[in-house]
Amino acid sequence: MIQKPSIKKLRPKLETAFEFSQMQVKNLISNSPDFFPMYTVKGKWKHDGESWTNWCEGFLGGMMWIFYKNTGNSWWEEKAKHYSLLIEERKHDRDVHDLGFLFWSTWKRWYDLTGDKSVKETVLTAGKTLGKRFKEKGQYLRSFVAEESLFIDIMMNVGIIYYAAIETGDQKLLEKVNQHCLTTRRYLIRGDGSTSHEGLFNLETGEFIRQSTHQGWRDDSSWARGQGWAIYGFGTAYSFSKDERFLDAAQTCADFYLERTSFAEDAIYGPGVPPNDWEEPVETAIAESSAAAITASGLLNLAKLIDNDEKSSQYISAALVILDTLTSPKYLAIHTDGWEGILKEGIYHQRKGLGVSESVMWGEHFFVEALAKALELEDE
Ligand code: GLY
Repeated sequence: MIQKPSIKKLRPKLETAFEFSQMQVKNLISNSPDFFPMYTVKGKWKHDGESWTNWCEGFLGGMMWIFYKNTGNSWWEEKAKHYSLLIEERKHDRDVHDLGFLFWSTWKRWYDLTGDKSVKETVLTAGKTLGKRFKEKGQYLRSFVAEESLFIDIMMNVGIIYYAAIETGDQKLLEKVNQHCLTTRRYLIRGDGSTSHEGLFNLETGEFIRQSTHQGWRDDSSWARGQGWAIYGFGTAYSFSKDERFLDAAQTCADFYLERTSFAEDAIYGPGVPPNDWEEPVETAIAESSAAAITASGLLNLAKLIDNDEKSSQYISAALVILDTLTSPKYLAIHTDGWEGILKEGIYHQRKGLGVSESVMWGEHFFVEALAKALELEDE
């Protein structure tokens, strides 16, 4: 049983973290204008580390739109527009599966705040571009690594495809995105609610071959960030499709997260924060704060989608416990001199040794998003 933190008591801590986040982003864009970092090295954003793929260019602009929405400060609006415009051409990018991360975080927020129809067109184009990754044989949107590869991460990008399909009345696109979600549910979610990072298919026949991983510990293990992507992504799929199977999937994944992560006061990584992979031996496993931030935001969404007060309250409690932990000095860089990120102890790619125990751009974005959502909760 997770004790529900008092939002009233937590609020000052969340507000301080929200202020600090603005300061860190302001410093980053002042020191390195028009630069899109991915992860820090020893707390610094500028370095020569490999990027593996280009999927993070929407997170800086995304945070700026959140700051603008919450503060009304036109300085943030101007910066948010600028950083959104810098990525506009990516709406045609056929090389990545991440156009939702790029355009839902930026241009969609821009459209929501202004109602500008030309801004909406860019969101629709990005969604339609992403839909072109659909493989008829296998019925999935292929990942950036190979034709035969399906990633759990792609669930975070289905929202923009649903949106494009619904807004343009494109039934074929709607069927494709629904099928992608069903294929992911069938092959990447296991009976216990854990998820696999990747599924591999036979390109000739479409037959599913096996589960695999890039960023988790083993092919049959449970990568925590993938779990966060699934909780959040299946919730999004349900919000567009109203298909109960996706709501069940989101809840099953959320319940696995809650079951396998300690929320006790003396939890090894702090209450609510998982290791990079739950099956990795405890001797070598290390904390993954970005998975916790994504999950907190996904749980706050899920709490609104389900029609079950007890469960909804449990998800809000878990999200608040996670945010309480992430705003403590172990994770929030506010007391770490010289650290340029907001949230410490995230991991990008443990096997490749990229961004390990560092700040990671998506961790920053989903942390800020979760803070903004939690600050909207009423005092009880
Ligand atoms: N490729 C997305 C991630 O690292 O979660």
